[in-house]
Amino acid sequence: MTDPRSDLGRASRVRPRRLRTTPALRALVAETRVSAAQLVMPHFVLGSRAAREPIAALPGIDRVGQDALLRDVEADLALGIRAVLLFGLVDDARKDARGRASAAARGPIATAVAALKRRFGAELVVITDVCLCAYTDHGHCGVLAGERIANDASLAPLSRMAVAHADAGADLVAPSDMMDGRVGALRDALDARGHVETGILSYAVKYASAYYGPFREAAHSAPAHGDRQSYQMDLRNVREALKEARLDAAEGADMLMVKPALAYLDVIRAVKQATELPLAAYNVSGEYAMVKAAAERGWIDEARVVRENLHALARAGADVLITYHARDALRGGWL
Ligand code: PBG
Ligand code: ZN
Repeated sequence: MTDPRSDLGRASRVRPRRLRTTPALRALVAETRVSAAQLVMPHFVLGSRAAREPIAALPGIDRVGQDALLRDVEADLALGIRAVLLFGLVDDARKDARGRASAAARGPIATAVAALKRRFGAELVVITDVCLCAYTDHGHCGVLAGERIANDASLAPLSRMAVAHADAGADLVAPSDMMDGRVGALRDALDARGHVETGILSYAVKYASAYYGPFREAAHSAPAHGDRQSYQMDLRNVREALKEARLDAAEGADMLMVKPALAYLDVIRAVKQATELPLAAYNVSGEYAMVKAAAERGWIDEARVVRENLHALARAGADVLITYHARDALRGGWL
């Protein structure tokens, strides 16, 4: 074989630019596509039906009561967003050391899930976050034994929370607490209640990250003391991500997640290669807030940066993209 470029004095025969000539040609040969069907829109759900409150650090995202939630989801469905991830919020007065309100049959999430399923039925995939931090007075994701987060004692309350969401009609429950063994515990609890069809989207690979800052403001879920480093993953590790992914798959997870997303593209790729389960990437609150802040100042082109970021996640291997940008990206035709 002769190297086509060795024919000096003559332009190359091999010209990658030919396939970049027009938008239609570029689209024809694009290796990665991001479509509405892959997107999941997160929602922060309040107990009071009529509420709608802006979140300062997440411009464009509100905390919503059930009425506003139904309106937002209906509009998003018209854009093509067919999956939601719900986070429940309760007043401080309803928080306690064990996060009991998390499993309430009439709590904000159970109520919202039932309402969404009544209105939209099988048109909408309803995923619920399962974690105690927005319901405990100390703000940790599990229950405490002294200053420590007690792993095994946290599994029962988490399981009760998942069962309450499944009772209400959730399609998938998504444990984000990072206790060991919680996927298996949730699977057993769901099956024992007859919810054999309710799936588990595990936040299998969740790092202790500064990128969750705006979320903790949105959900009032910041730990009152200490941090989450004894249960969330160390940012320096990737082999450990494979271990977490393998364990959760073995415990019965139906889908896996890597979180955050953009600073962990290598992890998304590695987990993708190690599992046959669908893989979600969570483009978290801090990643969203940084784009919004720079765009507000006119420092970046929001549409193009969002398109670039979401394609990066898909290119790294994410099948499902959980992102606060979902609505804007579709409404603006940014993809
Ligand atoms: C609760 C939870 C968090 C996020 C999702 N579920 C916060 C945390 O672990 O502190 C973060 C989502 C985001 O930043 O957008 N465990
Ligand atoms: Zn938590």
